[in-house]
Amino acid sequence: MTYKEKIDKSKLPLHVAVIMDGNGRWAKQKGNQRIFGHRNGVTAVRETVEAAAESGLSFLTLYAFSTENWQRPKLEVDALMSLLVSSLHGETPTLMKNSIRLTTIGNTNALSADVNKELQTTIDKTANNTGLNLVLALNYSGRWEMIRAAQDIQADAAEGKLKQISENVFAEYLATRNMPDPELLIRTGGEYRISNFLLWQLAYTELYFTSTLWPDFRKEDFFKAIVDFQQRERRFGKTSEQLEQYESSQNQ
Ligand code: FPP
Repeated sequence: MTYKEKIDKSKLPLHVAVIMDGNGRWAKQKGNQRIFGHRNGVTAVRETVEAAAESGLSFLTLYAFSTENWQRPKLEVDALMSLLVSSLHGETPTLMKNSIRLTTIGNTNALSADVNKELQTTIDKTANNTGLNLVLALNYSGRWEMIRAAQDIQADAAEGKLKQISENVFAEYLATRNMPDPELLIRTGGEYRISNFLLWQLAYTELYFTSTLWPDFRKEDFFKAIVDFQQRERRFGKTSEQLEQYESSQNQ
């Protein structure tokens, strides 16, 4: 039985987030430059997006470029940006065919005009699609997002537009304001870190780590993570007994 067949369609996570890690090491293992790994990482992006669309998820967020990634050699940053432009250009027909809607989170204003132009074209073209929401985290970090939220709150409070801050109000100031929190986070590449990704939103997220390097990640690897998620008990601070009582009251 494949992992795809093992998925319980009635218990799908609404939102899966992915830290795509291991491109550089994959390339090095093959005696190649890091950018060779990024180029092959595009295949894994395609597989993951298709797997998410096939399994009927509502949201898939991919950590494509962090605010810290600017510190990499300029040649690598430039290569990542042009890979993004060419992938967006090349994959738009597939997004349309599968009714996938593209959006971004992150400080995209700081990206080049070329990248912004291609992004906007794809965002506009896919805006009315009703299937999977594909969210690219670009020039994103959790701390950047929270500081920006705090600044916006400060400005609104100064204008008297805001009386009280609650969790719900704070979440409205985040880049993810229209999205559910991820229920599952997948990180490839064998590191056990969050790396400044969705710090607020991951509060109750199930974490799944695999040593598979990103360019080797395929649909079945994604389905395997979903099956693993479905076997977990999510307690949200409650006890197992409380959850059982709640579930049996729902089934009556
Ligand atoms: C991490 O591997 C990967 C990235 C920083 C970028 C991910 C980008 C892509 C897969 C390319 C295209 C993206 C899209 C959305 C089309 P790493 O370089 O940190 O690997 P290492 O840990 O082995 O050095």
